[in-house]
Amino acid sequence: MLNDRSSLLALLETRRSAKPREMVGPAPTPDELERMLAIAARSPDHGNMAPWRFVTIADDQRDALARLLHRTLAEEDPSATPAHYEKAEQFAHYSGALVVLVSAPVEDHKIPVWEQQLSCGAAGMNLLLAAHALGYVAGWVTGWQAYSKRVRAALCHPGERIAGFIFIGHPGTEIFERPRPLLERVWRAWSPPQELLKP
Ligand SMILES: Cc1cc2nc3c(=O)[nH]c(=O)nc-3n(C[C@H](O)[C@H](O)[C@H](O)COP(=O)(O)O)c2cc1C
Repeated sequence: MLNDRSSLLALLETRRSAKPREMVGPAPTPDELERMLAIAARSPDHGNMAPWRFVTIADDQRDALARLLHRTLAEEDPSATPAHYEKAEQFAHYSGALVVLVSAPVEDHKIPVWEQQLSCGAAGMNLLLAAHALGYVAGWVTGWQAYSKRVRAALCHPGERIAGFIFIGHPGTEIFERPRPLLERVWRAWSPPQELLKP
């Protein structure tokens, strides 16, 4: 349990994603999943719009998801090979809980859609952190499934889009740290132009 600042920092400094295809069970319990989603819903959100949705796909709905992906491949990708169908089958049955993160921005609102999409990303990040804090790993993937019209229509309401499929379980293999960007590449101190240096 995280009860002090150093363990919170350790959590932030050690969280890593796992590859969903390598994940194993058990999945979070319903109570744990609800807790993770409640944490994800505590995300920065200009205008209190909650411009994101969490669509959970239960274990006994994974066959239906596989059917959806197969039918989508048949309709949208005539060049799909048996290997593509096999991959889709595996995707639908990856271990762990499956949360589809959905971006649900309101168009023509005073809060720009861009900001609403950023909030969705923050909700996804919080979900990854919550999973890690509860002793799980998570993996956020997109792939063609996230961009297919048919999959979108099956999982989203009109005007929504898929931000990612987030699988939450346990690592099936050791997960290695990936290279992180050097801070000097992503951090710079602002150099104001000369005219701003004078009062
Ligand atoms: C929006 C988004 C989409 C992603 N889509 C994929 C994907 O399709 N396939 C994949 O292997 N990883 C995908 N990833 C995960 C990253 O490739 C990578 O595994 C992850 O950022 C690892 O970093 P971490 O350990 O800091 O979480 C995605 C991540 C994000 C944020």
